[in-house]
Formats: sequence, structure tokens, C-alpha cells
Amino acid sequence: MKILVVGNGAREHAIVHALASESSAGGAPHELHAAPGNPGMARQATLHAVDAVDGAAVATLAADLGADLVVVGPEAPLVAGVADAVRDAGVPVFGPSAEAARLEGSKAFAKEVMAAANVPTAMARVCTTVDEVADALDAFGAPHVVKDDGLAAGKGVVVTSDRAEALAHAEAALAARGADGVVVVEEYLDGPEVSLFCLCDGTTVVPMVPAQDFKRVADDDAGPNTGGMGAYTPLDWAPQGLVGEVVDRIAQPTVDEMARRGTPFSGVLYVGLALTSRGTRVVEFNARFGDPEIQAVLTRLDTPLSGVMLAAARGELAEQPPLHWSDDAVVNVVVASHGYPQGPRSGDAITGIDDAEGLADVHVLHAGTALADDGTLVSAGGRVLSVVGRGADLAAARAASYAGVARIGLADSHHRTDIALKAERGEVAVP
Ligand code: AMP
Ligand code: GLY
Repeated sequence: MKILVVGNGAREHAIVHALASESSAGGAPHELHAAPGNPGMARQATLHAVDAVDGAAVATLAADLGADLVVVGPEAPLVAGVADAVRDAGVPVFGPSAEAARLEGSKAFAKEVMAAANVPTAMARVCTTVDEVADALDAFGAPHVVKDDGLAAGKGVVVTSDRAEALAHAEAALAARGADGVVVVEEYLDGPEVSLFCLCDGTTVVPMVPAQDFKRVADDDAGPNTGGMGAYTPLDWAPQGLVGEVVDRIAQPTVDEMARRGTPFSGVLYVGLALTSRGTRVVEFNARFGDPEIQAVLTRLDTPLSGVMLAAARGELAEQPPLHWSDDAVVNVVVASHGYPQGPRSGDAITGIDDAEGLADVHVLHAGTALADDGTLVSAGGRVLSVVGRGADLAAARAASYAGVARIGLADSHHRTDIALKAERGEVAVP
């Protein structure tokens, strides 16, 4: 197949890597393209200097290439309607319409759909003034959870026991969007978080395997939230039946509700969950694969990814055989640049990727990387590389991933040293 992947992060590199691996597993090789892609993806795909959020440009590229499938990776192009533009050009596309992507683009909209579909989530109030926020904070009590309504690249949510900080975040979020400012104040959800990616075609839901993300920047969940510093799968500590419960009580009712509204959801419904003392609750919906979780999840997928993405794009998921998964464990550790997340530094030389990939069971995916004028690979963002290790169990997968990280050179970089450590030790529990 001829496949165009839209985006330039490690999530999109993971998709390209999985598609390229299909031929080494015996499938016919695909012709892979990426827009705009990154230097890591350039090894397996032809890069095109097209703006990922420009729907007309992406649709023209897809038509010119004669693409059989377009995969839209990140949320910004989805919310901007890039999948609609490609679909209108008659090319099958993996990714929801702009209207369906509002499940991620507006937290208030997501709450409304969850209420209509009876989906268990945190109690919440949608507020448009500071006074309403203050009332809601007092009603729910501490710890406080305040969310900017719109896309905020991982910076929209504050979880704090400090009422003044919660109020200040709400005030800033309201002011930033002028008269349209909306914030959502929620009850705090205790318990471990789980990410479950559900493939959808508007009607049918096919769950992948659950993974866990590490959002805080430093070991032991210290420091500010980030886009995610690492992830692992499987979750041996998760309750039996979790995936079935999430499909039956959350994903399928949400997909049914979106279809009922005339805005069917296809692509990936990312269900972010908290396993709380009072049961399973939705923390958030996203309209795309999670980064850094998908780098780990796709490593375990034995079914060819191209076939299931095409089936989702065509509304044919119900006819697909069940997904096959490796029993291996996979750990992804993110190497971040100096200053991330507050003020990431760019332009530092990156070394050691080939060394890391020379290790058994390690591969390295690019995110914030670029080629300097002299051809040197340099950092160009906060999360620079994903170092993915697999093994028979979490201990082996952690060892592989961290052996890879040790080979990487990037001045003043940082990474968490405890990705999947508690799970390896059997210390994760549902309250
Ligand atoms: P969101 O963008 O909604 O996923 O929020 C980002 C992160 O904030 C989540 O992954 C959680 O770690 C945390 N968070 C969000 N909502 C809640 C909540 N109601 N209770 C506790 N933590 C939350
Ligand atoms: N891993 C969190 C996200 O992709 O939103």
C-alpha cells in the first residue's frame, strides 16, 4: 500500500516504524510517505514539506501521491479538519472528522457526550467566570482540578491542593480566550491511570492493549506535568475484565452517541482512565493515539497495522479478525532536552542512536530532532527521542530500554529512571 502519515512526532515515527516492519514480517513492502515527518522517519518514508494542519495541502499531496491511506497522527490537524479534507478528496483516512475530534478539542463537549451516553467520569462544572470557578472549587473541595476547555498542548490542566493556584490557572485560562473563555472544574479522581486506545470506524470498537503513561517530569511523579515521559505495557496489575468493561461502559456508548448525533467517530478513541476507589472513571478522551504510550503498544502488535487502519477508515472493522499481541513487555523511556517542559533548549547534538539500536530488542524513535546545516542531528524540541525496549517481562524490557538510553548522548538531557519500576516490583494497586 501507499500510505501517507501526517505529523512529525514520535507517535508518527512509531506508526511509520510499525508499517515498515510489516514487510520484514513477510508482508509486501509499503511505499511510505510522511508530512512533514522528522529525520528519523526519513529512513523509512519519503518526507514532504507540507504543513500538517493545512487540510487542502495534505489532501492535494495525498491525491498527487495516489495514496491508498492517509493516517493523521496529532490532534491539531484533526481538530483543524485535515481528515475531512482528505476524505472529501476521496482518499481513505484514519482519523476523525473535526466535529468528532471535538471529543478532544473541547473538554466541555466531551463531558456533555459522556453525560448523554451515561459514561462514568469525574463530576464537573463548566465555568465562564472566576466566581463560578470559585464556587465549583469549594463545592468539590481539594485537591482541585482545573482544565482549560480547549487544546493546550498538555499545559491546560492543573491539579493542586492550593486553592489560590487553582483559581489563578482558571483566571489565566479564561483571560487568554477573551469572551469565549471556558474552564472545567472537576472532582479529583484517585487511583492509577490507564490509557486504552480503541480503534473505531463510526460503529464498531476494537480495543488495543492498555498502557500506562508517566506525566510528571521527574521520578516519583515529582515536578510539573509534561506530554509524557515514558510508558509501558502490559499492565499485569490491572483488574481482569478491565478492557471489556471499558468497551461496554465507555467506548461503545460514546461511539453510539456520536453516531446518533450524526458525527460518527472513526480513528482512535483514546480513553484516559483513573481506576478509583469508586470504580473506573474517564479522565479524558483524546482523538488520536497517546504519545509516549503508542510507541510501547505498537511494539506488541503482531497483526499488520496497515490492514486495521484501512478497515477503520473504510468502516469495515467488524469484519476484521481479532488483533494478535505479543506476550512481551515493552518499556518506552523519553529522553528530553535541557529545560523541558518549562523552556526546552534546541540545537544540541544527538549521538549514540545507532549504538542504542545495535542492542537486541531496542529501537529509537525521533520526536524533537532536526538536521543542522552540516548534517548533524540536533535537538529541536522538548521530548527528543523515545527509546523503546522489549523483553520477556518488565524487568527485561526496562533493562533493554535503559541500556539504550545510556548509549544516547545529548548535552544536559534528562529522563525518568523509574518508568515501569513500581509495576515491575508489583507495587501498583487499585485503591
Ligand atoms: P487531561 O488533559 O484531562 O488528561 O489531564 C491531564 C492530567 O491531569 C491527567 O492525565 C491526570 O494525571 C490529571 N487529571 C486530570 N483530571 C483529573 C482528575 N479529575 N483527578 C485527578 N487527576 C486528574
Ligand atoms: N500521553 C498523553 C497524551 O498523549 O495525551
